[in-house]
Amino acid sequence: MTASFLKPVEDLRAQFLSDLEISETVESPSPLKGEGHELLRVKYLSRNGLVATLMKTLGSIPVESKPLFGKTLNELKSEITAKLDSFSTNTNASSACGFVGVFGDMTLPGRRQEAGSLHPLTQTQRQICEFFEKLGFSIKEGPEIEWDDLNFSALNIAADHPARDMHDTFYFDEKRLLRTHTSPVQIRVMQNGKAPFRVISPGKVYRCDSDITHSPMFHQVEGLCVDKNVNFGHLKSVLHSFARALFGLSVKLRFRPSYFPFTEPSAEVDISCILCNAKGCRVCKETGWLEILGAGMVHPNVLKNVGVDPEEYSGYAFGLGVERIAMLKYRIPDIRLFYENHLDFLSQFHGL
Ligand code: FA5
Repeated sequence: MTASFLKPVEDLRAQFLSDLEISETVESPSPLKGEGHELLRVKYLSRNGLVATLMKTLGSIPVESKPLFGKTLNELKSEITAKLDSFSTNTNASSACGFVGVFGDMTLPGRRQEAGSLHPLTQTQRQICEFFEKLGFSIKEGPEIEWDDLNFSALNIAADHPARDMHDTFYFDEKRLLRTHTSPVQIRVMQNGKAPFRVISPGKVYRCDSDITHSPMFHQVEGLCVDKNVNFGHLKSVLHSFARALFGLSVKLRFRPSYFPFTEPSAEVDISCILCNAKGCRVCKETGWLEILGAGMVHPNVLKNVGVDPEEYSGYAFGLGVERIAMLKYRIPDIRLFYENHLDFLSQFHGL
């Protein structure tokens, strides 16, 4: 029978064995297992651990029992140390330093994932931006949730102006909307800077509009150049160079007189349809031309709205439809293909 003064040592031993068993039956193999044994080491063997705490009770043990108490407790300490050490030795040997866990064997070679690629619209948008950056334009972005004021009023579109109807707008409330074009970024740039300006602004825009060449969410790249003595000839020459850089020297551009309240004069610019060699198809609506952008000379009222003197400065602006450019470049017959996320479609644009 165990002497009563040894009972706390026996209890501690039983407690350790029970803790050890729980720790070893944690769902196996488990990365927590090693960690559980380290916790036991702290709990039992550290300076303030349970073994050291019990050792501090030695003072209250009768003198004649002290040696046996001390010896038994030291034996328990050795037993605990040996059990915990043997665990970490086994673990190191059998599981490659603990790399085998619920996540599998981390030392095995990884599974190969096919490299992805950028979406064709992202590729096209980047190519457009790169072209204009080479001409000295810098990129400025604006928010997709825009103030009605900047989307319309500051661009010379009055509250009751019928031009607002051209844009089938998604409103949040009376003042906020999903921007219908990237032109409000012109206002943000000019309000916050000093002329001259030469910027392009890529981004998403939204309109209640849907067919094979129109999508409710689409991408535009806005261009703005304001300086002294800028004229319509500069605009034509920049857009011609752009079209040739993207589609080759034989591409034709057509400037159609048009109307935008924020430019005067204004034009819509069509490109000869590359899908049908300008012979007429479903995409160009049998005309041989596809509209890719709106453009014009910045209206003097817009310059005044942002504190730029129209007597001193003039400028041109344009807004390109990225999807339209991508449709021509990659001969895509329906704009909706860009948004359906079919891998068969998207994987054709790898490495272009
Ligand atoms: C505008 O949005 C004017 N802000 C462009 C502009 C900027 C004019 C600066 C003058 C000065 P428009 O609504 O025409 O213009 O759109 C410009 C281009 O976006 C179109 O030529 C077309 O290529 C493209 N686009 C228009 N609506 C859609 C749509 N629903 N889906 C895809 N592309 C579209």
